[in-house]
Amino acid sequence: MPTDPTQQRAAQGADLGGAGAAPERVAPAAAGSLITVEGLAKHYRVHQRSAGVAAALRSLLRRRWETVRAVDGISFSIAPGERIGFLGPNGAGKTTTLKMLAGLLHPTAGVVSVAGFRPAERSRDFLHAITLVAGQKQQLLWDLPPADTFELNRAIYEIPRPVFRQRLDELVELLEVGEVMRRPARQLSLGERMKCELAAALLHRPRVLFLDEPTIGLDITMQASLRRFIATYNERHGATVLLTSHYMADVAALCPRIVVINHGRIIYDGSLPQLVRRTRPEKRVELHLERAIPRPELEALGARLVSFEGTQAVLHVEQGDLKRLVTQALAALPVVDLSVADAPLEAVLADLFAATPAPAAPGLPAIVAPP
Ligand SMILES: Nc1ncnc2c1ncn2[C@@H]1O[C@H](COP(=O)(O)OP(=O)(O)O)[C@@H](O)[C@H]1O
Ligand SMILES: [Mg+2]
Repeated sequence: MPTDPTQQRAAQGADLGGAGAAPERVAPAAAGSLITVEGLAKHYRVHQRSAGVAAALRSLLRRRWETVRAVDGISFSIAPGERIGFLGPNGAGKTTTLKMLAGLLHPTAGVVSVAGFRPAERSRDFLHAITLVAGQKQQLLWDLPPADTFELNRAIYEIPRPVFRQRLDELVELLEVGEVMRRPARQLSLGERMKCELAAALLHRPRVLFLDEPTIGLDITMQASLRRFIATYNERHGATVLLTSHYMADVAALCPRIVVINHGRIIYDGSLPQLVRRTRPEKRVELHLERAIPRPELEALGARLVSFEGTQAVLHVEQGDLKRLVTQALAALPVVDLSVADAPLEAVLADLFAATPAPAAPGLPAIVAPP
């Protein structure tokens, strides 16, 4: 039955579950939500073996199995048109989750509904509704120009030629790939290739975009350019975007909402500014002074003095006390320049990860931060 080429193509490299995969139910989509995930889990059984020949022989006789809880019972729902940053350290379960949402992996347990479909069935309509782009995988044909891959996708998705032309023109313009799309993919820079990957992945105008590290390895200019594209595409077409990235700048610029996962569990679901306020509520105030002053004059400001060297001082102050501190500093001290910043996002996330160590035993409740 699965003669649909989209299925064959998209299933490349997929682990289609197997014996241990539990049957899925279609989630009753929460009102107004496009993606609903409830108690979603993916456990892998892996064969444990120590290094060395003796251990190899022993393991032939007695196999030791261990369960890796890659995703361990996560729930969330996403409204149409949302842009969500899916964050977590390496091995947290992000890619596994995206693959289950895209129907490339069968969940061990739980319920998933994407645009009204059950992803694991990989129906034709589902495949037309979604796309999955992974920065570390490529779908462009290596020896051929991206233009040929675009043409192939036109045929696979049965896009009428005039519609294809129009969509391609738009993507080529937004991504600025008019020239490079005619050169063999292997001759393109990583950034040029990534742009063409996105174009190829969007020709069928999916409503849901799963982007797994789309900017990995790119320089800052190219990262920013892809970011702009993703934002424009989302706004113009109302597409829903679920994105993972190591680059906090991507997430801060693109995602009003973030979902943080660690050890297969959701540990935060809410806005980035809220997370910063909860985890590192203090603001960092940097003062540049006209001349050196005695330390007590800075201490008199009533904030935590973090560093003071020469004419530069750094203070940490509670959000609610910021206005008073700044006003007082400007009035009382010879301030030349003053800047206020939040704690760096990397530090905020590191705090959050450290606060949620691996569960000692299976079945511990996830620590879910209230929004
Ligand atoms: N096919 C597999 N077999 C066994 N373990 C796997 C497999 N794929 C992923 N894992 C494990 O599942 C966990 C989550 O992996 P992944 O979803 O790729 O994390 P992330 O994308 O957040 O870095 C990791 O511990 C990883 O080693
Ligand atoms: Mg990953």
